[in-house]
Amino acid sequence: MFYYGLGGNVYFLGLRVLWSTGNGMSGIKVTKRASNIEYAIRDVTIYTKDLIANNRKIYNLNIGDPAAFDFKTPPSLKEALCQAIAQEDNYYSPSEGLPALREAVAHKEKKINNVDITADDVLVTEGISEGIQMLLGAIVEKGDEILFPGPTYPPYISYTRFFDGTPVSYETIEKENWQPNIDDLRKKVTKKTRAIVLINPNNPTGAVYNHKTVKEILDIAGENDLPVISDEIYDQLTYEKPFVSAANVTTDVPVVILNGFSKVYQMTGWRLGYMYFKGKNKHLDALKDGVEKQCRIRICANTPVQIAATAALNGPQDFVKDIVERLKQRRDFSHKRLNEIEGVSTTKPEGAFYIFPKIEGIGKRWKDDKDFVISLLKATGVLIVNGSGFDPVYGKDHARIVFLPPISELENAYNALEDFIKKGQ
Ligand SMILES: Cc1ncc(COP(=O)(O)O)c(C=O)c1O
Repeated sequence: MFYYGLGGNVYFLGLRVLWSTGNGMSGIKVTKRASNIEYAIRDVTIYTKDLIANNRKIYNLNIGDPAAFDFKTPPSLKEALCQAIAQEDNYYSPSEGLPALREAVAHKEKKINNVDITADDVLVTEGISEGIQMLLGAIVEKGDEILFPGPTYPPYISYTRFFDGTPVSYETIEKENWQPNIDDLRKKVTKKTRAIVLINPNNPTGAVYNHKTVKEILDIAGENDLPVISDEIYDQLTYEKPFVSAANVTTDVPVVILNGFSKVYQMTGWRLGYMYFKGKNKHLDALKDGVEKQCRIRICANTPVQIAATAALNGPQDFVKDIVERLKQRRDFSHKRLNEIEGVSTTKPEGAFYIFPKIEGIGKRWKDDKDFVISLLKATGVLIVNGSGFDPVYGKDHARIVFLPPISELENAYNALEDFIKKGQ
């Protein structure tokens, strides 16, 4: 009757209760903002505990971590990191980031994405994740709305809520390869909207937006005097379509670009990212100041990792082509194999390393997409993420699969998925 939920809460008949410690004191209350946090990508791992205890094999297709598979951190970056530590670069660095790294980011953005910025426009963060937190911390007041694509990368939803804001998703259309519904976006701008988010290439759908689409989104932002937040972490991981940075499309609309080293430079566990601000007429000065203050309160990003990241940006980039080529094979295999399974249908991702199939029978054979994901895990060890974790409306009845593992591993996982669907558990 009592059971333990997330965050150590104790429930009785579905109600959260305070737990007596036995010395007359009740358990320490947790804030609603903390206990309500959701991050479906990692929340699903809770269900693997029993399976691991029973030595069951788990196919980890839930986390987008290239370094956990056969996409290893380039040796030159590992050497640069070890060298930085050995030569005593172990101090606190400036809160905004090391000048050499901010300079290297400005060069990279010019060279790769044709964006004109200076080192002063760049702030270094402990991964984009910290950047999202700081940025929304500087934008969102109680009741403010943030518009983001549905489905979206979950922290945009969770941090908006964390700061007492209201997440609002605009539709992306599955049969158009998950391109944004521009009319829906326009309709959803209200007096309370504070920013429009785009994620390009998109997680979880793999959609890549062309110049026209990015411009249409920026135009809506411009008409409504809103900044655009563009998450471009997969900028160099596109297959056929070229990537267009939101900072390269117009000079009039204020944009904040989030990017990082996790996916392209395979430094996920080192935790490093950056954001830059590009706008006219001091539009973004107060916002940048609000983020800089948060940079100072958390002191600095990891100094030796910043030195290694500088080496990453200034060194040869040919390994990126190789990553894209290998990912493309895994993308093609996943797209073909998943569409062969009766009851599964999927679009072809144009970038990143996620595929987002629709699963038939949810609501009938399985209560919802989370029930499907958990049942699949228990029966087969295949761990994927429920689509509703990326948006309760536009993501439901889907699941996100990471196609980073080698094809032989993917094949085993997809065979198990097919078997599971056929057996109808
Ligand atoms: C769109 C997007 N943004 C940000 C992140 C997290 O990036 P970081 O490792 O830099 O915190 C991810 C990770 O999956 C992502 O998919």
